[in-house]
Amino acid sequence: MATRRFLLPVLIACTFCFTTAIKEPKSFAYEKGIVANLSHCPGRYCGRTSLGNGSWSACGACERGLRSNASSACQICKDEPELYDWLYLGFMGLLPLTFHLGCIDAAAKRRTFTKEVMALYASAVVEVVVAAVATLLIADPFGEFRIRSCKERGLADWYPLFHNPNPNYEGVLHCTQEAVYPLYSMVFVFYTLCLMVMLLIRPLLSSKLLPGRGKSAIYSALYFLPILIFTHAIGAGLIYYSFPYLVIILSVVSNAAHFAFQLDQSMPGLLLGCIRDVRNLVILIGHWGLHAYGIIAIMVLNDKDAYGSLCALVPLPAVFYILTSRFTDPSNMS
Ligand SMILES: *[C@@H]1O[C@H](CO)[C@@H](O)[C@H](O)[C@H]1NC(C)=O
Ligand SMILES: *[C@@H]1O[C@H](CO)[C@@H](O)[C@H](O)[C@H]1NC(C)=O
Repeated sequence: MATRRFLLPVLIACTFCFTTAIKEPKSFAYEKGIVANLSHCPGRYCGRTSLGNGSWSACGACERGLRSNASSACQICKDEPELYDWLYLGFMGLLPLTFHLGCIDAAAKRRTFTKEVMALYASAVVEVVVAAVATLLIADPFGEFRIRSCKERGLADWYPLFHNPNPNYEGVLHCTQEAVYPLYSMVFVFYTLCLMVMLLIRPLLSSKLLPGRGKSAIYSALYFLPILIFTHAIGAGLIYYSFPYLVIILSVVSNAAHFAFQLDQSMPGLLLGCIRDVRNLVILIGHWGLHAYGIIAIMVLNDKDAYGSLCALVPLPAVFYILTSRFTDPSNMS
């Protein structure tokens, strides 16, 4: 009781402090227009561009590939993506690949691999690899397997649009730029290339190898690629920080779903099914690869290095399903 009586005044006091802190009018002095000596700009992303004759431009967005430094000068970015950035780019590449493979698998409607379906899988892998390599080569420095980038410094970097300052309420300064150059834009390039390469290669292959049914895998790609592009446009920053967890959750769910579609749900049946059927074995190993990818990305995100011990957990979801499937049989309910 005593704590509750105490809580209300504290709450009111906090609300009061908070609202006054927000409303407190802050005057922000900064030099407008072109300046002879570098001076500070408001806002996280506004900067001044060197005019070449010693003067600096008015505060505004830096050019592409430049970022404002601590003293608001637009400086060319010379960072290289870190391991986590590469893992993020790899994840963005794995997304269309797994969707392609899943759609081809669904279109083939066969539970075994045939030469024709294998050729379509290979085509999907080649398309994604070609698009990825082309994206890397196009990215600055042009023609090299390196990327010149601006270091990512937090979630806000993905959404600079929300950080346009309005100093003294005199008007918004438009300083929106790609702060995580080129991690944001190159994914758009990659997905567009994926779409173009697929439309170049796949229809021919499909009509030869899987006439009739092969079409549906192409049609689904025409849906999921734009959806991926849209999701990236809106959620890039959130995906950047959550993809390790997304990989693990989605791959565990899809692993369980794959097992649940097996006809024989007994423990020996599931075990033998994994070994006897090449398709099942490939799917299982693919899932293990995804689990491992997620675990490594989580380690890198959190600056831990216990790769060895945690990667031993990779087979756990499959083993857990196989061991417990007989307890979860719906016929046990009655
Ligand atoms: C530098 O050039 C800009 C425009 O090009 C001009 O407005 C400015 O006065 C010049 N500064 C000097 C010091 O000449
Ligand atoms: C920002 O860049 C300008 C011009 O390149 C340089 O003179 C200045 O020292 C830099 N400021 C910081 C804090 O690095």
